[in-house]
Amino acid sequence: MAISSRVKKVTTHTLQEMKSSGEKITMLTSYDYSLARLVDAAGIDVILVGDSASNVMAGNETTVPITLDHMIYHAQCVVNGVDRALVVVDMPFGTYQGDSKTALDSAIRIMKESGGHAVKLEGGSEIVESVKRIQQAGIPVMGHLGLTPQSIYKFGTYSVRAKGQDEAAKLLEDAKILEEAGCFSIVFEKIPAELAKKVSESLTIPTIGIGAGADCDGQVLVLHDMLGITKDFSPRFLRRYADLGETIDGAVKQYIEDVRSKEFPNDDEAY
Ligand code: KIV
Repeated sequence: MAISSRVKKVTTHTLQEMKSSGEKITMLTSYDYSLARLVDAAGIDVILVGDSASNVMAGNETTVPITLDHMIYHAQCVVNGVDRALVVVDMPFGTYQGDSKTALDSAIRIMKESGGHAVKLEGGSEIVESVKRIQQAGIPVMGHLGLTPQSIYKFGTYSVRAKGQDEAAKLLEDAKILEEAGCFSIVFEKIPAELAKKVSESLTIPTIGIGAGADCDGQVLVLHDMLGITKDFSPRFLRRYADLGETIDGAVKQYIEDVRSKEFPNDDEAY
C-alpha cells in the first residue's frame, strides 16, 4: 500500500468521526487478494482478516488451530488487494493471552510482515495488559466481547452470550476497561440487542456488531457466509446477500458437461 496513493484511506480516526456523525461503519472479512480487492472496490470501510479463516479457508471446526504464520499470510494477501479500507488482523489463539511481551511481539510481527493497519484481540479484563502494551507501541487495537470463538471450549456452545445480569454487567465493565486501555473500537458478537445498544451508547469509541442488533455503530459479517459460499452455517443474524454456492455449483457442472461433450473449447477458444 503506497502512502502516495490518491485514494482517501479509512483510518481509526475516520471510524471515530463516523460514530460522532452517526454514519454506520461497514466491515466484512476477507482472507485473500482477489476477494479483498472486490470488497474494497465496492466501498467497504473495514476489512477484517478474521481468524474465521480457520473455518472458511482451512475447514477446521474452530478458530483455535490457526497460527500466527497463517494469519500473517492471509493478511499479506488481503493488504495486496486493498487501496482504501482499514485492514484489521485477528491475533490468533495463543499469541496474546500468556503475557503482554508475547502479545506485543505477535502484534509487531503482524504489522511488519503483513502490512495490516490494526489488530483485534478477544477478551476483556483478562487481556488488558496486552491491549495496553500493544497500543502503547503505536499499534491500533480493536477489542472483541460477547461470544469470543477462541473460548469455545470454555463456553461449550456458540449460543448468545450475556443474557444474564452478571455476564451483561461484566461485558459493560470489560467494554469500559478496553476503551480506557486505548482500543479504537470493539466488536460485540452474539449478545442481546438491548445490551449492545446500552453499551454502545455508553462508550465514546465505535462498536461493531455481529448478531448484536441494529444499534451498534457498525456491522460485520463473515464474507463467505453472506455470499452464500458456506452453506452449513445459518445463524439467525446472518443475512445472505448472494448465493454464490449455487452459482459456482452450476458453473462447475456446466464446465464438466462441456468438456466431456467436447463442446469446450470451441474453435474460437483455440489457437
Ligand atoms: O474471525 C472473525 O471473522 C471474527 C468476526 C466474526 C467478527 O472475529
